Amino acid sequence: MNNSFKLSALEIVKKYRDIIVLNNVSINVKESQFFALLGPSGSGKTTLLRVIAGFVKPDCGRIFIDSKDITQSPPNKRNMAMVFQNFSLWPHMNVFENIAFGLRIKKLADNIIKEKVNRVLKMVHLEQYASKKPQHLSGGQQQRVALARALVVEPEILLLDEPLSNLDAKLRDELRQEIKTLHKNLGITTVYVTHDQKEAMYLADMVAIMTNGNIAGVDSPERLYRKPSSIEIARFLGEVNEFRGVVKEIKAGVSHIETQIGNIVAITDIDLVEGEKVSVCVRPELIQFPANPASENKIMCQVINREFTGSLINVTLAKNNMIFKAIFTPSSLKSSEVKECLIGIDARDVLIFKV
Ligand SMILES: Nc1ncnc2c1ncn2[C@@H]1O[C@H](COP(=O)(O)OP(=O)(O)O)[C@@H](O)[C@H]1O
Ligand SMILES: [Mg+2]
Repeated sequence: MNNSFKLSALEIVKKYRDIIVLNNVSINVKESQFFALLGPSGSGKTTLLRVIAGFVKPDCGRIFIDSKDITQSPPNKRNMAMVFQNFSLWPHMNVFENIAFGLRIKKLADNIIKEKVNRVLKMVHLEQYASKKPQHLSGGQQQRVALARALVVEPEILLLDEPLSNLDAKLRDELRQEIKTLHKNLGITTVYVTHDQKEAMYLADMVAIMTNGNIAGVDSPERLYRKPSSIEIARFLGEVNEFRGVVKEIKAGVSHIETQIGNIVAITDIDLVEGEKVSVCVRPELIQFPANPASENKIMCQVINREFTGSLINVTLAKNNMIFKAIFTPSSLKSSEVKECLIGIDARDVLIFKV
């Protein structure tokens, strides 16, 4: 096996009794990449991470680091470190000893342990807390200790299993930023499991979407969002308005589609034929108001409802009795008195899927 990937998990199958939890799953992660496994609860993310770490033995498939087959290697020989959702710190040890634990097992000298632990304590901004017990720390601080404990052994690959999901919103935002900065500074190859699409999009260079033990798609966050390869991925990564349509005409790469909200012009990579039935999708936040003059689609709609949320306005629109959503900025739809608006949709922002 010779490839340029830092980590490959290939054709992994895992069954528990007759339930297939991982159904021939493959992922390839490049050196220094931040790779997110994104999927709903029960889709098999943790199981795949544990297979990579060596805690779970797959029924089929192989794991490689730098093209070396490590499928049979025990977890402690894989040069990986894992951070869990529930922190899993030792309650009877202080912060310093929790972090030093992996180094003590390796029987490193005390002065080296001290140096290494202090270095990671600094990285996670916990220098002041070395002698505290975990139960005297906030959730965010405990998770930083867990992160430091993983980093201190200088693993080749860092595995993180929903590390932020037990934290409240403010701590989650803070630690999310810190994880991003740490990754930028250390360049450590990272596999990050989450069910939170915003978290995956914010952190990762590459996102794999997992559903029911399968990988539904792998791409950069922006491509998954802008050019999803299936309607399931489009639905999973943010909201979409979906309209039924029929392709009326294709001219010079531009498709004209008759939909429930009128004729829509779309520029798409997929091959369509005239007369074909399609699903036409538009993300609420890509609907413009006021319509950009250069926009290919301009549609007069009724405003059914307007919810002011501070930074955004959620709007319910209607056209031909079809209800759909838009998200406007507060500078646009300033009054709740407005009953009609001319919206714009760029042809490249229209997503087309075959049905
Ligand atoms: N040790 C186990 N024994 C039996 N079933 C399991 C075990 N671990 C996980 N599963 C099942 O595998 C499926 C995927 O679980 P998991 O990998 O934890 O998903 P996720 O992390 O995406 O929520 C679930 O249906 C879960 O119940
Ligand atoms: Mg899980």
